[in-house]
Formats: sequence, C-alpha cells, structure tokens
Amino acid sequence: MAKIDFGGVVEDVVTREEFTMDMAHEVLKNEVIAVLGYGVQGPAQSLNLKDNEFKVIVGQAQSDKVYWDKAVADGWVPGKTLFPIEEAVAHATIVQYLVSDAAQMLLWPKVKVGLKKGSALYFSHGFSIVYKDQTGVVPPADVDVIMVAPKGSGTSVRRNFLAGSGINASFAIQQDATGHARERTLALGIAIGAGYLFPTTFENEVHSDLTGERGVLIGALSGVMEAQYNVLRKHGHSPSEAFNETVEELTQSLMPLVAQNGMDWMYANCSTTAQRGALDWKDKFRDAVAPVFDELYDRVATGKETAIVLKVNSMPDYRQKLQKELDAMRNSEMWQAGAVVRSLRPERRKK
Ligand SMILES: NC(=O)c1ccc[n+]([C@@H]2O[C@H](COP(=O)([O-])OP(=O)(O)OC[C@H]3O[C@@H](n4cnc5c(N)ncnc54)[C@H](OP(=O)(O)O)[C@@H]3O)[C@@H](O)[C@H]2O)c1
Repeated sequence: MAKIDFGGVVEDVVTREEFTMDMAHEVLKNEVIAVLGYGVQGPAQSLNLKDNEFKVIVGQAQSDKVYWDKAVADGWVPGKTLFPIEEAVAHATIVQYLVSDAAQMLLWPKVKVGLKKGSALYFSHGFSIVYKDQTGVVPPADVDVIMVAPKGSGTSVRRNFLAGSGINASFAIQQDATGHARERTLALGIAIGAGYLFPTTFENEVHSDLTGERGVLIGALSGVMEAQYNVLRKHGHSPSEAFNETVEELTQSLMPLVAQNGMDWMYANCSTTAQRGALDWKDKFRDAVAPVFDELYDRVATGKETAIVLKVNSMPDYRQKLQKELDAMRNSEMWQAGAVVRSLRPERRKK
C-alpha cells in the first residue's frame, strides 16, 4: 500500500495504479458476483461491474416490482442476469449485500442458508455486522466477510464512473475464512470503480458514517440552513434573499471553491469583510454544536441510532412515510423558494 501523509498523519491507501483493473480481473476471474438489492448502491455497483466486464448478476425481490422493473429497464435479463434474492445467492460465489440496512436484517435467514463454503459476503456499510445484537446478522465461519464502502451516494458512484472518475471508498476485512479475503476485497473495490481505497474496520466505518450523515453531511447542514433562513425571514428579508444568502451562494459559489482548493482558499477569495466576520463566528458555531456532536457520536456508538433505523425502516409503509416527510420539506416555503431560484439560473433559462 502507498504511504500518504494526511496533514502530518501517515496513512495507507491503495490506488488504481497499484491494484490495477487487470489484477482485479485475475483475482475475480472465477467468481460470480451477485449484487442483492437494486435501490441506490445496487444499480451503481452492478452496472459498473458489468461495464468493467466482471461476471455479475442482480438479485432483487419481485414484491412491488418498482426495483425489479428498474433493473429490467437497465438491461438485466430475468432468468439470465436478474433473479429473485435466494436464486441469485444460489448462483453466487460473492454476495454483495446491498439491500437497505433494515432489509439486510429481514432477509438474513434467506441469504444465510444459501451461502456456500468459501464464498464472500460483501457489505458497503458496517451496520449489520457491528450491530449484530440488533440485526442478528452473524455469518457462518466458512465465508469471507468483507466491506467496500463508497464515500458517496450510489448516484455519484455511477455518475463519476461514467465521467471517467471515481468515488473514494474504505475497505475492511471482518473475517478471512479463505486466506484470500484481502485480495478479493481490493479487487472488488477497483472493479466497482473506486477512486482510491483506504483501510478501516467495520466498526470505524459505521461509527464515522452514521455520525457524518446525521451531522455535517446532511442533518446538521440542512438544520443550520433552516435556522439561518428562518432568522432572515423573521427580520423581514424576502424568501429569495434569504435563500440566496443561505443555500444558493453556498452551493453555486463557495463549496465548489472549497472542493477545488480547500477552506482557506475559499476564505481568501471572499471579501475582507466576509473573511473577518466568518473567522470570528466560526469558533462560536463550532463550540455551540460540539456538545450536539458528542451526543450524536455517543448515540451512534451505543446503538441507539441503529435501533431507530431498524424499527422505522422495517415497517411495511416506511417508503410512504419517508415520502411524506420529504414532500413536506419540498413544499416548505424555503425549498419552494429554492426551486424558483434554481429555475432562474441563466443556464436553465436558456433551455
Ligand atoms: N445509498 C447510498 O448511497 C449508500 C452509500 C454508501 C453505502 N450504502 C450502503 O449500501 C447498502 C445499500 O443501501 P442503499 O441505500 O443502496 O439501499 P436502499 O436503496 O435503501 O435499498 C433498497 C433495496 O432494499 C430492498 N428492500 C427494502 N426493504 C426491503 C424488505 N423489507 N425486504 C426485501 N428487500 C427490501 C429494496 O427492494 P424492495 O423494496 O423492492 O423489496 C431495494 O432492493 C446499505 O448497507 C447502505 O448503508 C449506501
């Protein structure tokens, strides 16, 4: 593995130059990979594997047909490359378990009985294994238990692949039954189109991921945006002004600068007025939310967050209830204003 210095801490990473696509083909040449689930990660990883010319099939329940039909529309052929879950497991030497985390718990008895000695059980999240007391997912001792966790949405995993780029992914080996778990894991990471791979453990992956998505990546970000929008509205600012100062400028102007060259560079490209004020307020915000982050990490580590996920997402009507919450968000004044602001972007008005 290459040794890379991350801000003074030296870490290992596996690059595509080091573990090439040819090496991945050699390692996986006799494997049949079954990707179970066709929600978000399932389509991305299975289509990338197919385009990279690995032997891949899809396993998907036919229950309400939404995801099954999506798989058919994407070119998977029923009875040839698309099967009900148990049948796909029966054909596979590597099972990529990419149904939702709650569904992994519900489907586990069916998947477990089909796993063959020497096969590999692959996850993209440490959830089911780390919280096994809640999920009941305890793999047999004669299979490899491995993980490649893309650090991005499945949508980006596919989109970046098609654009010739890749999403970075962490990898971990929980159980090496065959003595080949590591090379299988790295080969799969390269095969699904990861940018570079960095090592983790199932536990560290799930703790950081659950904290990140509840925190800065989604939960904290959308909560802080709402708070600022509401303050501006309370003081008489128009919806378009409040939205532009809260979201549009962030996504269209500032975050691309951070993505390109880092936070200090973004600061350096703002006015001196903005720089002074932002530097003064940054620490206040950091200190204000630090206790919330401590509470969040504690709830993740002690399994309180996963208990909620398993309970709520196992309900038969979870998708309808989720849709209701997302509809409420979309229909709020703030995000309705956002839709109008987006529609007024010059490039959209040209169409
Ligand atoms: N979403 C992401 O971008 C992302 C990023 C990194 C890692 N991951 C991880 O990747 C894995 C897959 O996540 P995902 O977000 O791609 O999954 P998802 O879209 O939430 O899952 C949808 C899939 O789960 C199946 N499913 C849901 N409830 C089911 C049930 N009760 N019985 C049987 N199947 C059920 C769906 O089929 P039916 O509903 O039709 O049965 C569909 O195939 C998870 O471990 C997740 O943590 C996801």
